[in-house]
Amino acid sequence: MYNNELLQPAQFVNEQIAAIKEQVGNDIVILGLSGGVDSTVTAILIHRAIGDRLRCIFVDHGLLRKNEFEEVLARYRGMGLNVTGVRAADRFFAACKGITDPELKRKAIGKTFIDVFNEEARKVEGARWLAQGTIWPDIAESHSDKGVVKSHHNVGGLPEEMHLGLVEPLKYLYKYEVREVGAELGIPDEILKRHPFPGPGLGVRCLGELTPEKIAVLQDADKIWIDILREEGWYDKVWQAGAILVPVKTTGITDGRRTYAGVIALRAVNSVDAMTAEPVRLPWELLDRVQREIIATVDGVNRVVFDISTKPQATIEWE
Ligand code: XMP
Repeated sequence: MYNNELLQPAQFVNEQIAAIKEQVGNDIVILGLSGGVDSTVTAILIHRAIGDRLRCIFVDHGLLRKNEFEEVLARYRGMGLNVTGVRAADRFFAACKGITDPELKRKAIGKTFIDVFNEEARKVEGARWLAQGTIWPDIAESHSDKGVVKSHHNVGGLPEEMHLGLVEPLKYLYKYEVREVGAELGIPDEILKRHPFPGPGLGVRCLGELTPEKIAVLQDADKIWIDILREEGWYDKVWQAGAILVPVKTTGITDGRRTYAGVIALRAVNSVDAMTAEPVRLPWELLDRVQREIIATVDGVNRVVFDISTKPQATIEWE
């Protein structure tokens, strides 16, 4: 909540701008941009408060959606942010080589992110603060009294190593509140209405060991899925959607010949705060179009399934 039930987005923005100015004074602040709603809203809010003293770093871990790094970087620059783009996919694939356990994979991605980010951050002279787009569900799920469900890599880790103070203006907000604040800041819907996307990216949707080849297959399938949701007017009615590459092969048939290829699972859920989620009851015709297009055009896939699990017992991401 906006710290207080009666506070509205405009007031929240004004109060946070004042609070950020008070907290950081004339210091330089570093922020890791992910392309997602939370870090973008955090960046614009802080940019309003301190302008170019906000230095943003956007790391390409090779696990983003197809073409996303280039498109998002250009958009950030168009919004006036001072942002350095860092291409580091090779380092992430090297760090994840041979790892199949989901938590170890998350940790390897998280650690590599910290290493790459630290190296870049050290180049920013005089930096005293680290801003993060942490929101309330990140904190709640990472500190659950029932133990860690998944290690969200945007909570903890960076500041101790870097001796920076933390700036987290959104940490008491739910996602829908972050979007309201973003709208108040004039951020376009194209960014605000983007589905949530996890820090480790397609890494948690490409089950088992990560390789550039598997990620490329997943990126192609994911693009078809998301593009069709947009074209058919469903993207904005779905809270989060993504494709998952399942590391099994199954038998199929193409032009009368047996095939033995991979499986893509489609996930589309509605949720309010990510704590619970329901699969979206999409039109059969839409799902049919997606399966046809994926199987016809994505090499190495001959089967598409739709995930009908609720959270709980399943989580939104598969890993
Ligand atoms: P789960 O899979 O736990 O996901 O039901 C709940 C929401 O959190 C997103 N998610 C993450 N977001 N870093 C993030 O910033 C992460 O490591 C991470 N893991 C999951 C997920 O996409 C969903 O919206």
